[in-house]
Amino acid sequence: MFEKEIYVKRRAALKSKMSNGILLFLGTSEASVNYPGNTYRYRQDSTFNYFFGLTDPDLAAIIDLDSDEEIIFGNDVDIDDIIWMGPQPFIKDKAASVGVGKSLPLSNLSEYVAKALNQGRKVHYLPPYRYHNMIQLHKMLGIGFDDLKAGASVEFIKAVVSLRLVKEACEIAEIDKACDIGYAMHYTAMKMAKLGVLEQELVGIMEGIAVSQGLMPSFPIILSQNGETLHNHSHHQYLTEGRLLVIDAGAETNSNYCSDFTRTLPSSGKFTTQQKEIYDIVSAANDLVISISRPGITYTDVHLKMSRLIAQGLVNVGILKGDVDEIVAEGAHALFMPHGLGHNMGMDVHDMEDLGENYVGYDDTYKRSTQFGLGSLRMGKMLEPGHVITDEPGLYFIPALIEKWKNEGINTRFINFPLLEEKYYNFGGIRIEDDILITETGCRLLGSKRLPHTTEAVEAEMAM
Ligand code: GLY
Ligand code: MN
Repeated sequence: MFEKEIYVKRRAALKSKMSNGILLFLGTSEASVNYPGNTYRYRQDSTFNYFFGLTDPDLAAIIDLDSDEEIIFGNDVDIDDIIWMGPQPFIKDKAASVGVGKSLPLSNLSEYVAKALNQGRKVHYLPPYRYHNMIQLHKMLGIGFDDLKAGASVEFIKAVVSLRLVKEACEIAEIDKACDIGYAMHYTAMKMAKLGVLEQELVGIMEGIAVSQGLMPSFPIILSQNGETLHNHSHHQYLTEGRLLVIDAGAETNSNYCSDFTRTLPSSGKFTTQQKEIYDIVSAANDLVISISRPGITYTDVHLKMSRLIAQGLVNVGILKGDVDEIVAEGAHALFMPHGLGHNMGMDVHDMEDLGENYVGYDDTYKRSTQFGLGSLRMGKMLEPGHVITDEPGLYFIPALIEKWKNEGINTRFINFPLLEEKYYNFGGIRIEDDILITETGCRLLGSKRLPHTTEAVEAEMAM
């Protein structure tokens, strides 16, 4: 938790961006795994944490834009809770610790909202992503489940996004911490990865590091020698000669700030010549992004410049043919990189994806492309100081996708299908991901150390 003034200032900034009505914030509740008392690890809602700093379950808040009243809703513990959970501060003291002067029991929330609705006032809420909160909103607002997302306040969403997207110094310090934990997770895996080791063992050790130094991994760890599957959560294979291991993982601090790194390791500790050729393209693409990202360029432009580099690299090894500008304009390179270059990161690893990707990564000026590959870019708009984004180029050989393009005649004039069939169907994938902060003049890598990212550095680290 930051100092009280941070939350007071954030709420004042939010109010200054809104017109009138009431703002309704729902925190999260515990979620059961297999019976009510056995719950998943608890995680507060990011927007609630951002404006109110309290990370306990079953809290809600209201900001009345017309009267300027702020209220935290929550229940004080009773003697039963004290027996099982120990004594807890009163809600009014928790509220005071973040500069909120009024608190009420949670059961008063629906009455408060009903009164506002009866007075014909606008109740602004954010798109819900937890079923419990959908039920609460449905009961309070009378909106059908299927209409809840569409009924969320665009004005509220845009105001929250504009604040959360530009990181304050205290947030950057937390993200740096999350990156240092992420570094430790990856570095340990890099040291432990040896022929015969089970992928799941690496996952377990990495998760343990995240939990022992912070809250948890920032998303379920992606770790597989079938790295051509972009988000592969199967970890059942033993490390085998000649394969590539993609590890995409990050940590979340206790204050809910995240990191997200990807490294690709040769299972045996040594890259083959073919693997090196492709790895060097991805590594150069990752470096290019760091060298050109700065205020005044859109991340779409960075993605496209990076795309030209990977297209040229694939032409050089004979996988693509033709003019690089044409290849990128037609999106032919996206057969090998079907995802976007990166996304915003903060209190969510895909920052504010719950509020709607297009509000976060695009705006009225910069619209999302519909082209395959580029259309998956989550962050496309103009870069500004304080933006935190991932730089995650990759190259993948997905036999089913290659076959589909061949059979359907998609971009066939640019693609050397016989070479792919002969040499690349068992290649797997390569992704290299770092986290960057846009500064006044350029960008910097987040975290105090950069994970090895060249073939030489990775091989040297794995050999030590
Ligand atoms: N690192 C996982 C993702 O960006 O989707
Ligand atoms: Mn990522």
